[in-house]
Amino acid sequence: MERSMWFLDQKDMPTQWYNIQADLPEPLPPVLHPATGKLVTPQDLAPLFPMELIKQEVSTERWVEIPEEVQEIYRTWRPTVLHRARRLERALDTPAKIFFKYEGTSQAGSHKPNTAIAQAYYNKMEGIKRIATETGAGQWGSALAMGCAFFGLECKVYMVRASYDQKPYRRILMETWGAKCVPSPSPETKVGRDMLAKWPDCPGSLGLAISEAVEDVVTHGDAHYSLGSVLNHVLLHQTIIGEETRKQMEMADAYPDIIVGCIGGGSNFAGQFLPWIRDKISGKKPEMRIICVEAEACPHVTKGVYAYDFGDVGGLTPLLKMYTLGHGFIPPPIHAGGLRYHGMAPIISHLRRLGLIEAQAVPQTAVFAAGIQFARTEGIISAPEPSHDLKVAIDEAIRCRESGEAKTILIAHSGHGHFDLAAYDAYLSGKLVDYAYPEEEVRKAMLELPKVPTSE
Ligand SMILES: Cc1ncc(COP(=O)(O)O)c(C=O)c1O
Repeated sequence: MERSMWFLDQKDMPTQWYNIQADLPEPLPPVLHPATGKLVTPQDLAPLFPMELIKQEVSTERWVEIPEEVQEIYRTWRPTVLHRARRLERALDTPAKIFFKYEGTSQAGSHKPNTAIAQAYYNKMEGIKRIATETGAGQWGSALAMGCAFFGLECKVYMVRASYDQKPYRRILMETWGAKCVPSPSPETKVGRDMLAKWPDCPGSLGLAISEAVEDVVTHGDAHYSLGSVLNHVLLHQTIIGEETRKQMEMADAYPDIIVGCIGGGSNFAGQFLPWIRDKISGKKPEMRIICVEAEACPHVTKGVYAYDFGDVGGLTPLLKMYTLGHGFIPPPIHAGGLRYHGMAPIISHLRRLGLIEAQAVPQTAVFAAGIQFARTEGIISAPEPSHDLKVAIDEAIRCRESGEAKTILIAHSGHGHFDLAAYDAYLSGKLVDYAYPEEEVRKAMLELPKVPTSE
């Protein structure tokens, strides 16, 4: 029998998250205060986040215990399965072995609940009653809505207008889990009203929705803000994915030569590759390739600059050193491929800067072609985001066919595409076009970067 799935028993689910900050060859650049440019303090962040998450943000402890209450909820869908894409391998006629760890089986359909549950838990423990957040395609908003439902918290979601209009089903999911979801820009915040006055049809952006959620929180009591990607604690919570995969790859008697994953803000892919990169940093697996895949329409790592920038349009968030396209970035509405945030997680940016990981940008029509090939061989209809990984994994497998090498490729598959069928429809009916973000726009945006002494 040829095995195609590796199951981890629930009793073997990892009980600790892995913190890469313990093993970085150089520490991360510090986070700066948005108004003063000085080092941010835990007290500066306390209006937004619970203290446990602030501690995790800066911790250098290698292992962080997953609270029992969080583990119990994880066990409603975890461990997720490690698959081998044997039918795709055969279709490509490649000697490569293609594995994928599938996070689409969570109730919300993606990896996002791994951190949503943890964040809701820590907020509940600190006595918070309400959480506000932003969402792009709706995956994060629906995961947090579910997390808040489990812990009896109110949830308010500012959803990027373009997605709010295109994806009513994600809004309905959020409402079913008890959250309130409004399109961003909204008239409910000053930053939203200002934008609507300038541009009534503004399609919105993640950076703008973040500004609205942060403003909402600082103008309400008992409320905190929650971010679904980018920050160190979010990446930390996602490492449950890679820690499970390590055990499952051992069961499959395999070790990845190449790991591919998509990066929006960086959380799902970091969750997979951080537990492996420690073998590269330690010198045990120096040849392992780790490839971050981004959208050509939002090429933060491949075309952006490494500099301090705000996480939002309104300049309310702390300054992070990261690859950025500028915090004013508004993605083109013709882009259906997901992955639309202007900045990249500081951990991923730092690892890229240190030359430990690679990055590639891919156009959306090639992404959907790969998603369709995967659907027609493996049966799974992928979200546009992980279809980016599929495109690059397929390219690597074809390279193996040409060179005759039997490499092991591991794909971080972040979620299903059951609510993305309109984008598949647009592709199948020939309406989807490619769009490469112009260098000129990047140069213009750089003029708006905040001035801080260490900015490059
Ligand atoms: C299914 C899926 N994959 C990937 C992403 C990109 O986010 P991140 O880079 O934080 O994993 C998203 C964002 O919403 C998503 O919904």
